Amino acid sequence: MTQQTLTITTPDDWHLHLRDGDALKAVVGDTVNQFRRAIVMPNLRPPVTTVAMAKKYREEILQAVAANGLSDRGFEPLMTLYLTDNTSAADIEAAAQSSFVHAVKLYPAGATTNSDSGVTDLLGRCQVALEAMQRHGVPLLIHGEVTDSHVDVFDREAVFIDRVMHPLRKAYPALKVVFEHITTKEGVDYVRDADGPTAATITPQHLLYNRNAMFTGGIRPHFYCLPILKREVHRQALVDAATSDSPRFFLGTDSAPHAKHLKEMACGCAGCYSALNALELYAMVFDEVGQLGRFEAFASHRGPDFYGLPRNKSTITLKREPFKVPEQIPFGESTLVPLAAGETLPWSLEHHA
Ligand code: DOR
Ligand code: ZN
Repeated sequence: MTQQTLTITTPDDWHLHLRDGDALKAVVGDTVNQFRRAIVMPNLRPPVTTVAMAKKYREEILQAVAANGLSDRGFEPLMTLYLTDNTSAADIEAAAQSSFVHAVKLYPAGATTNSDSGVTDLLGRCQVALEAMQRHGVPLLIHGEVTDSHVDVFDREAVFIDRVMHPLRKAYPALKVVFEHITTKEGVDYVRDADGPTAATITPQHLLYNRNAMFTGGIRPHFYCLPILKREVHRQALVDAATSDSPRFFLGTDSAPHAKHLKEMACGCAGCYSALNALELYAMVFDEVGQLGRFEAFASHRGPDFYGLPRNKSTITLKREPFKVPEQIPFGESTLVPLAAGETLPWSLEHHA
């Protein structure tokens, strides 16, 4: 008989954009409804570059959770620092000693939203930070795309592997590395076979859609994110990886809210909003390939295991009941268009135990 319910350890989101201010207040409840912990990206303006800034940001997140009446959920924001050419060994030591900073994020300068203070030359300019991270076991989270305008936008991840991932691993064999939001077969092959402690997060949009989705019947800005959606062969490689028994692939939504009007414009922002319905979307992918049995490992086990954190003790239940994704949801004075807006999904989230 077809499986009707799926009860699993409460999942965590290992890659999330929560923003700050009013945007944070508007979106944080969606994540708290789906996840117990989330790795929170530091690409604010200005970027979160020090432990003191991360502490302040964490407090703002917890206040926003309280303002939504959700303090009793025990949501835990796992903070990150934004790596710059000037990050010092002392910055990393302070992060390692804090109880709330869990990783450092690398944005190559110019790669994406708020990345203009990013790193210009990782191996040339960040040695002291990388050395300290390796020594203290602080993971480096990598936006793995070259920013060279001569490289085709669809090839930037594969070129990054050759130019940065291989030399990085050679220079820092014990550094914990998470290749964030991988989008290609090359990314999957690299992570599966790499030496040293290497893992990757995978988003719902890269599991569900190929690049055709951006152009179906006209240009579709709500499918535009970075790294950009790729060909079908890459999507299939990602589904194989996520649903495999490799401990190296785990859930990271990269949910990245941008107001509707800032996506539907001549120079629209990159990012898909999936915090509202991430688990429903991921469950659909695992179900479609007959691998619901592996969903818990992907969503709830492999992430904490890699980060050296305990697995959650509570559970959530998904039911095979249709969930109609709203066309849009309120976002301050504007609205947000969630991923798969208007579609009816086969699974819905029942409750948080
Ligand atoms: O699509 C994206 N949006 N990719 C990123 O790397 C950043 C994110 C954002 O912050 O909006
Ligand atoms: Zn991101």
